Amino acid sequence: MNTELMEIKNGTLYYDGCDLTEIAANYGTPVYVYSQNVIKSRIRELKEAFTEKYPKNRIAYACKAFCCTAMFRLLQKEGICADVVSGGELYTAIKAGFPAECLEFNGNNKSRGELELAVEYGIGRVIIDSLQELEMLEKVCAEKEKKMKVLFRITPGVKADTHDYIVTGKKDSKFGIPLDDDIILPYVKAALDSEYVEFVGLHFHIGSQLFENDGYLAALDQTLALAEKIHSEYGFWIKELNFGGGFGVTYTTEERKPFSFFLDPLRENVEAFAMENGFEMPALVIEPGRSIVGEAGITLYTVGSTKDIPGLRNYAAVDGGMTDNIRPALYGAEYAAKVANNADAAADKVVTICGKCCESGDILIKDISLPALKQGDVLALFTTGAYCYTMASNYNRNPVPGVLFLDNGKAEWAVKPQSYENMTAGDVIPESLR
Ligand code: LLP
Repeated sequence: MNTELMEIKNGTLYYDGCDLTEIAANYGTPVYVYSQNVIKSRIRELKEAFTEKYPKNRIAYACKAFCCTAMFRLLQKEGICADVVSGGELYTAIKAGFPAECLEFNGNNKSRGELELAVEYGIGRVIIDSLQELEMLEKVCAEKEKKMKVLFRITPGVKADTHDYIVTGKKDSKFGIPLDDDIILPYVKAALDSEYVEFVGLHFHIGSQLFENDGYLAALDQTLALAEKIHSEYGFWIKELNFGGGFGVTYTTEERKPFSFFLDPLRENVEAFAMENGFEMPALVIEPGRSIVGEAGITLYTVGSTKDIPGLRNYAAVDGGMTDNIRPALYGAEYAAKVANNADAAADKVVTICGKCCESGDILIKDISLPALKQGDVLALFTTGAYCYTMASNYNRNPVPGVLFLDNGKAEWAVKPQSYENMTAGDVIPESLR
């Protein structure tokens, strides 16, 4: 696990200067806590590896990993862009006062309403996933008398080595435009000829939680071959190239690779290609999500009932579960944990951490060694910063936990916990039942 900014003092776990047991007592559990400093340090690492030396490049944080107005404010302060995939994410960005021109819009089935919002707000780029979308966007732009920069997301036909549900670049995928010439080239032609869109380049995203760079490089080869074809057919060299996200993080024993491991060879290959073909180096864009927020987040739970089944398994139930972290149930994802109020005791008991939902699959960690757990203990689950809050649900009508931003010993709400009132705000009794 990643132990950055964690310390143990008098048996208590501290994170970014905050006593996590005290946080649990003061703010309640379950609660997501994020270290602002860890997020900032990831952004700085990315800047060092990607944008500082090459100012034309852009980092567009994939906010599907963790999205709220405070996060957009932090991104804005750090001076990076963002990628949104829905009207809701777009709205959150605008609500936070995030500059619209720094937004790019991904997604395989954007609605007309979402495209209208994007055009009205004047976002930076739409990443087109289908011909229908291109046509719809042109209509919207025509109506609103605006022009939108577009990239085409292609399916590079690359199988990345990760969980099947988070592979996106293989040919049999709902995402992106197939690379077959007779499919992709007419799109490019339509965009180049359009009055309402400006075709600027190509985009791929091959998957998530990746630790090798060969999949990216293979996808890049395919993309550059297409760029060459576009040039030979239409005399146009791409101006932008977006490599998506996907850089892996440490959950348990995996080792996060430095960003340069992925980004240097990608950049070098594009440079060599541009040089060889005598065109201007395109702006390179990345969309990291998990690698910016994943390791920064911790979920705090309170242990409730415990149950030892002799000769079989020991269970400890916490006050959250698959509603605040669906990843173990959905992907078999593994997590590390510590007892925040008993952080340096020997981990001498094997226990399965389960949630409180009415579902046997509601297991957060299967068989982890921890100090013996008792009711009231505060359990900290690490690396829950990405795809936990954003994938939370109200199953069993459990409210979505709040999010605290920690910063050098100070904790503040970034998202308040959902109240029962709030959760049921949309409920109405139909007239027929009154
Ligand atoms: N760009 C595009 C077009 C994407 O589809 C994604 C993730 C990203 C960027 C960001 O990828 P990242 O850097 O976060 O790996 N719910 C799954 C992950 C789904 C990722 C979907 N797309 C999980 O919990 O593992």
